[in-house]
This record gives sequence, structure tokens and C-alpha cells, in this order.
Amino acid sequence: MVEITPLTPVFAARVTGLDIGRGVDAATMATLKDALDRHSVLVFPGQAIDDAAQVAFSEGFGPLERTRPGAPGAGSPVIILSNVGPDGGIEAPTAKQVLNNKANRLWHHDSSFKQLPARASLLSAREIPSAGGDTEFASMRAAFAALDPAEQAALKGRVAIHDFGWSRARVDAALVSEDERRQHPPVRQAMVLEENPYGPALYLGAHARSIEGMEEEAARILIDRLMAHATQPAFTYAHRWQRHDLVMWDNRAVLHRATPFATATERRHMVRTCVAGSAPTLAVAA
Ligand code: OGA
Ligand code: MN
Repeated sequence: MVEITPLTPVFAARVTGLDIGRGVDAATMATLKDALDRHSVLVFPGQAIDDAAQVAFSEGFGPLERTRPGAPGAGSPVIILSNVGPDGGIEAPTAKQVLNNKANRLWHHDSSFKQLPARASLLSAREIPSAGGDTEFASMRAAFAALDPAEQAALKGRVAIHDFGWSRARVDAALVSEDERRQHPPVRQAMVLEENPYGPALYLGAHARSIEGMEEEAARILIDRLMAHATQPAFTYAHRWQRHDLVMWDNRAVLHRATPFATATERRHMVRTCVAGSAPTLAVAA
């Protein structure tokens, strides 16, 4: 019997009573899809799965994204977030992999720089550090609900420009190649999504560079203010990882970010799959 236990008064829930490696029946999948809509973040403890089992379970939620060229795991449905190199040792802190992990420390929605951004991500903890390396989540549904009605109305219909080259360059100029810039030109994303049956959500994150029809500086101030509002403690949940946790989140309802750990001395090896969005954000805009 699947049991779903809320982790905060606002969002996120722990899901127990299933063994993902053995496969999940259709009725349980329906329960989990509704739970994801309702709670935005699902924590499945004690799931010692391999990549194949993770892919199979993830596909139950819809077709998976392929990892973008230039990232570890490129072309396959798994992306590896790790400071452990191919030889099994810890990577030098200058490696692109480590810089990418640093970029993950900015609040973001996965792949919001794509024309069709991800619906959900599933992250499996294969190796975790003894301290740090938590993953934090912020509810963009709670954030939207807490805005006053006049501001909610003003945000509906707004479009933000999400720009991968710009956001990566903010982290480190060496992080984005000309090739990657060409592959990911700026895209238009709705600022308020209305695809969730439990309520609308703000959609912003680290790649949100500007707002259509707004002067650059005013847009920057508005984005920064909304991001600060959304990530206040009342709307956040910090996940302290246990080995073999699988955590799933709705990218169209939460922001998330990585937090620091001793990358030079401690191993952290995570494997992620991403369920593709079923519609562009502009098609589900408020
Ligand atoms: C991700 C991500 C954060 C972390 O998997 O998309 O941003 O803590 N991860 O590893
Ligand atoms: Mn991410």
C-alpha cells in the first residue's frame, strides 16, 4: 500500500510502500501522478535502483528528455551529476562538470532554456557526502498564491526570455561554448503557468533574463523580487539526502537548487532523468 506523507505544510511529500525496482502497477502510477500534481516534490526513500530501473519508472510519467550535447550522459536519457570522474576518482575542481554543479546552485527549473522545457525530474542518490549537498526546493504555486490579486493579474500573460548562454556566463565565462550558445538560443516562456489542476504557478529561475515589453532594468528588478519572494523559507523544503533516495519534482511547479559540500574531498554521485513537457509553457499560460 502506497503511503503519502506531507513533509511541510505547503508542499513536498514522502512516498513509501513501493519498490520501484520491481515495477509499479498502473493504479499506483495514477496515484503517483496525482500526488506529483498535488505535492510538487515526491521523496521515495530506500530505492536502490540502477539506471535501467530509473529510466523504466520515469517513462511511466511520459517520454524522457535526451541529455543535451556537452553534458555528461549526452544523448542518453540519464544525466550524471557527479564530482566522480570516469576513473572513479574525485575530479579536479576546475573541471567543467564541477562548474556545472556550481551553476546548479542557482534556483532554477530544469531545461527552462529549451523551447519545450521539462515537466518533471527524478534524481537518484547513488553516493552522498557526509555533510552538505542538500537539494532545496521552492513552491512556485505557493509563491503565486501569496501574491496580491492585482499583481497576480498583472503577471498573467507576461512572457520572460530564458537564455542559457547568459545564465551560464554569469556563473563562469568558461562554462558556455559558442556551440552551446548556438544550440540554445533564447526562448520565450510564460511567467504564470496554469496547467496544474491544483493551481497556477510562477515560472522564472536562473535562465530568466528579461521580460517582453518591459525595460531591461525594471524587468531585472521584478524578476529578482519575485525570486526572493518565492524562495523565502515558508515556501521552501530542503532535502537532506540519504543514499538510495529517489526524489521527483514538478519543474513547472517548483524551483530547485543544489547546495555546497566538500567537493574536493567528498564523493557525490547522482543520476537524473527528465520527463519532457507535454506542451510549451506558452500553450498553458494563464
Ligand atoms: C538537478 C539539480 C541539484 C543537486 O538534478 O537538476 O539541479 O542538488 N540537482 O544535485
Ligand atoms: Mn536542476
